[in-house]
Amino acid sequence: MAKKDTIILGIESSCDDTSAAILKNEAILSNEIAGQKVHEAYGGVVPELASRAHQQNILPVVDTAIKNANISLKDIDAIAFTAGPGLLGSLIVGTSFAKSLALGLNIPMIQVNHMHGHVLAHFIDDYEDDQLKAKPKFPFLCLTVSGGHTQIVLVKDHLDMQVVGTTKDDAAGEAFDKTAKLLGLPYPGGPLIDKNAQKGAPNAFKFTKPEMPEFDYSFSGLKTNVLQFLQRETKKEKDFVEKRMNDICASLQKTIIDILFDKLIKAAKQYNIAEIAIAGGVSANSGLRKRLIEEGQKRNWNTYIPKFEYCTDNAAMIAITGRYQFLKEDFADQSISPKARMKF
Ligand code: KG4
Ligand code: ZN
Repeated sequence: MAKKDTIILGIESSCDDTSAAILKNEAILSNEIAGQKVHEAYGGVVPELASRAHQQNILPVVDTAIKNANISLKDIDAIAFTAGPGLLGSLIVGTSFAKSLALGLNIPMIQVNHMHGHVLAHFIDDYEDDQLKAKPKFPFLCLTVSGGHTQIVLVKDHLDMQVVGTTKDDAAGEAFDKTAKLLGLPYPGGPLIDKNAQKGAPNAFKFTKPEMPEFDYSFSGLKTNVLQFLQRETKKEKDFVEKRMNDICASLQKTIIDILFDKLIKAAKQYNIAEIAIAGGVSANSGLRKRLIEEGQKRNWNTYIPKFEYCTDNAAMIAITGRYQFLKEDFADQSISPKARMKF
């Protein structure tokens, strides 16, 4: 008898994107994302506003995902949801929704670690181009860079992975967003730094790089360094930032990418691994994507870059992770509660 297809509904609500996706085995049928503009004015995500927006968005987002996948509720075999890490109020909205729908449909639910989701986004089947269809081979290293995390992950199997390097303070995404704020750019500043950097000179200014042991990162010093640099330069020239915006962005972006790659290259050497992937919101950065390809050519790495929509937070990555857990019957029960901090 042919193996039955499995349809999984994924739900993501850990930060400021409400997302729902439908996956049939490994193939994507729909991936809907509702962003939240409400935080822009505040220079960062306001947790209480995020929870309220998730509450408003979740039903229409799930509904649209089901409609666009051309399936009906009764076709869903299991619900995978982000149980952490993230903002507790936001996680509660997605978790409660998943619980009630699973109860109503009498189907299992699967609690997913958001960070596993970023890594496993590489296994979503959504490419017509044969070259892009290639999936990383185990073991591989994944540089996961997001607004909340910076990790080098050693991935031995879909559900067997280990963090070998991490940030001791700010995440790479925070380094982008906080320095962007110093430049007067709205939240989230990462994509805007990327845009400006494409028109600037990456070697125009030098910023400090931290000394950290092994494969660990630190980004808080960069923010202080940029603050002092801007104070010094604007004292000399009032409209320094406006005049040199593109060069500052390009130099900042280069510094962050250099810091990330120093440790990634070191880890690849130490573990003797040439399968290298990037994931997370910051992996949408054009400079980072370009650099991975360059380093890959230079070092004979096979490199893997997710499609844009699977870099930033999305439910498709939660659904694919849920699929692997489903195959192992790793289910959650109704007593489950989400966790702001979650063991990797
Ligand atoms: O993975 P993600 O969507 O959410 C978290 O789990 O944190 O990552 C969001 C982060 C933000 O810090 C945002 O500024 C950054 O990803 N980001 C970028 C770019 N696109 C998103 N950073 C630099 N360049 C980009 N193009
Ligand atoms: Zn994320």
